[in-house]
Parts: sequence; C-alpha cells; structure tokens
Amino acid sequence: MPRSSPLSTHFRFDSKSSSSTLRHFDLWCNKKGAFALMGSLGRLSSRSLETEIPIMVKILELTEGAKDAMPLGQGAVYWQPPEQALENIKQIAWEPSSSRYGTHEGLPELKEALLKKLLLENKLYKSSVMVTAGSNQGFLNLVLALCDVTDSVVLFAPYFFNSYMSFRMTGITNILVGPSDPDTLHPDADWLENILGESQSIPKLVSIVNPGNPSGTCIPKPLVKRISDICRDAGSWLVVDNAYEYFIYDGSEHFCVEGKHVINLFSFSKAYGMMGWRVGYIAYSSEADGLRTQLLKIQDNVAICASVISQRVALGCLEVGRPWVTDRVKTLMRNKELLIDALSPLGDGNIKGGEGAIFLWAKLPDKYQNDFDVVCWFAQRHGVVLLPGSACGVPGCIRVTFGAVTETECELAAKRLKKGLEELAADGMVAGPDSSC
Ligand SMILES: Cc1ncc(COP(=O)(O)O)c(C=O)c1O
Repeated sequence: MPRSSPLSTHFRFDSKSSSSTLRHFDLWCNKKGAFALMGSLGRLSSRSLETEIPIMVKILELTEGAKDAMPLGQGAVYWQPPEQALENIKQIAWEPSSSRYGTHEGLPELKEALLKKLLLENKLYKSSVMVTAGSNQGFLNLVLALCDVTDSVVLFAPYFFNSYMSFRMTGITNILVGPSDPDTLHPDADWLENILGESQSIPKLVSIVNPGNPSGTCIPKPLVKRISDICRDAGSWLVVDNAYEYFIYDGSEHFCVEGKHVINLFSFSKAYGMMGWRVGYIAYSSEADGLRTQLLKIQDNVAICASVISQRVALGCLEVGRPWVTDRVKTLMRNKELLIDALSPLGDGNIKGGEGAIFLWAKLPDKYQNDFDVVCWFAQRHGVVLLPGSACGVPGCIRVTFGAVTETECELAAKRLKKGLEELAADGMVAGPDSSC
C-alpha cells in the first residue's frame, strides 16, 4: 500500500479555470522561481505545498463547468434541516448572545443535550464533548492536539481524503496506509496488529471511519472492538469518525466503542442536512488526562467557537432527533438501487459498499488507472460528477454518492451513469476528456 498519495500526479491546474483561487495559485507556482529571488515571500510553507489540492475543489469546479451535471461526487444529502429547528432562526438572530463569542467547548445547553444523546444512543458513558465548526475541524483539532510531526499515523485504504490532508498539512509525513479486505472493504485488523506490534515507534493515532467514507461499508461490532483493543494494547489513540452513524441499510448496525484511548467524532452535516451550518463534535473520554486543555488551546486559535446560531439550530435538530433522520435515510434506499444498477456494466464483483453512509465504491476496468480523467470525461460528456478513487489512495476506482439527489434526480443521474459506463466498455473515452479538465 502506498505511503504517500499518488494524487499529486493527477492534478493539473487549469489556467482557464473559473476559480480565481486556483488561478492565483497557478500563477504563484509558475512564478515561484522569480519569487524565490525576493526573500522569503515566495516560500509558501512546504507543509501546505506538499498537501494535495482538495479533491472537493476540483469536484465543485467540474460540477460548475459541466452544464446541468448530476452531483454524485460530493458527500452531501438533498434535505434541509428540520423545520422545527429553522423556524425560530429569525428571532434567535436578534438575541445579542447570538452575535457574541460562545464558550469554546460549545453552548452549555447543546453540550448537555449531546452528552445525553451520547449516553442513550451511543452507549458512551464517560464522555466529554467539544463542539466544533464541523467534524473536519474536530479532526484537525485532534491531530494538532495528539500528534507531533515526527509521529506516524495510520489510515486504511480507501481512506477519507480529508483525514489524509489533515495529517499532511500539519507536517506529518509518516502516514501508514493499511489495506482493507478486498471483498468487504473492512480495515485489515491483522495488518494493524502486526504494524502496532512490530514498529520501533508505535503509531500515535489510528483513524477509521464507520460507516465508511468512501467505502460505504459498516464495520461490524467485533471488528471495531478488536481494532480498539489493538490500539489500547499498543498505546495508540483510536479516532473513529461516525459522521454517518444514522446512515445504515440492510440490517447493519452502527456501534461506538468507548475507552480512554478512543475519540469519537460526530457531525450534524449529513444527518440533519446542516452541511453549510458547520457543526460537529468531538466525544473523548473524561479520563483522558490533559486532553481537554490542549483541545481548548487549539479551539481558541482556530474557530474560538462554532457559530452560535448554528449551534442553536443543532439543538433544535436534537429535539427532533433520530427518527426524523431515519425517515430521510430510508428514501435513499431507492437511490442506492438505481445506482447499483447503473454501475452494473462494471460487473457485480466490482461494486462494493452501500451498507452504510451514502457511498458506493466501484472498480473501473484495469486500463483506467487514471481515474481523474475518467471522472472529467463523465462530467463533460455524460453530465455526471463522480469522485476519483485516487483521492482516497486507490487509483482506478470511483466513489458514487447517492445522498445528494432526490429520487427523481437520481433516476436521471443513473441513466447517464449507465450510458457512460456502457460507452466506456464498448468504445473507451470517446472524445475526451478535453484539455480544460
Ligand atoms: C467521514 C466524514 N467525516 C467528516 C466529514 C465532514 O463533516 P463536517 O461537515 O461535519 O465537517 C465528512 C464530509 O463529507 C465525512 O464524509
């Protein structure tokens, strides 16, 4: 398995791009030599330079660039937050406390509701909570609080690209990418046991996502427990990203593990359609000595607090609760079926996931290792935006999201995807992708 991402070779900056950010970056890179002569001005941090361009920036560009493209690339849901959570917003907006800084760890009433939820739903009995501006910020806070640049860390391929980027941009280069079972895509615990048992320097942090992004699988309870035990025995932190805890299909079960070494991350983004409101939370053991203090230092310098008004909306969501989410998750079953059928030209054995989260994971025919080209071709020629597997450390694959479209939209998306895959199989990438991709 690769230790460093193959991604960088896939990205080409587009001088015709609509994104001024990328254009400026492009210009900067082209002129780097000239800037280098001007003192330290041209020396952007190697931490950042050596981090991949966010795949989501490219995906959103593809979505904008391809007229009427169906959004099967970004991990999102089609619904908005519950009406009950939104209806008081106007009034809340006028309360002075909504415009002041909130407490670093989150509004006391939200924290209290979260601790109750963690206890009742997740069976986490000894948790402390920090509310963050989305769980991605929570993950970054944790990396900053737990890891030094000389530490090694563990992910499993296919991995969640933002976790990889958080490590890279905080200067961590020793990223051990473990394999997953080729059939189930579950993290390979035997490999983990060997690595944690053998290493001269034990990895500081092991990260798993359950249900998986991008795999779309659910890690069974005994395996989550085993991974936790391996980490505990070796003295590694285990960070579990539970962003899709409510997105479970086909009788699978989501399970949280508790321990002094375990940190659970959660998000309001997908369950409650709150992507743009930016609220997530970290649940860590109240017995984890000193962690709270370090998290507070980081929080004070990154977000200070999650948006107060967003936290109020999140509280309204908790009042509505899981049944509201479950009703919406059920509507995704049909989307999933439609897209599994659309992927059928790839062959059944090449389609995985769909037990949890909002993702299917599919292997392209062997000759399409450059999956980014395939993704561009789909966007330009077939009007469907997908995510290249190389962004998750496994080239030659695609991730298909079934959460961001309604059933009617999904019918159209599935038709386009199937047509594209049939064409790919019969004739290859006819007429493309063009050079603007
Ligand atoms: C596994 C996982 N974790 C975290 C996030 C980010 O969540 P948030 O919007 O809470 O930052 C995502 C979003 O796609 C995700 O898929």
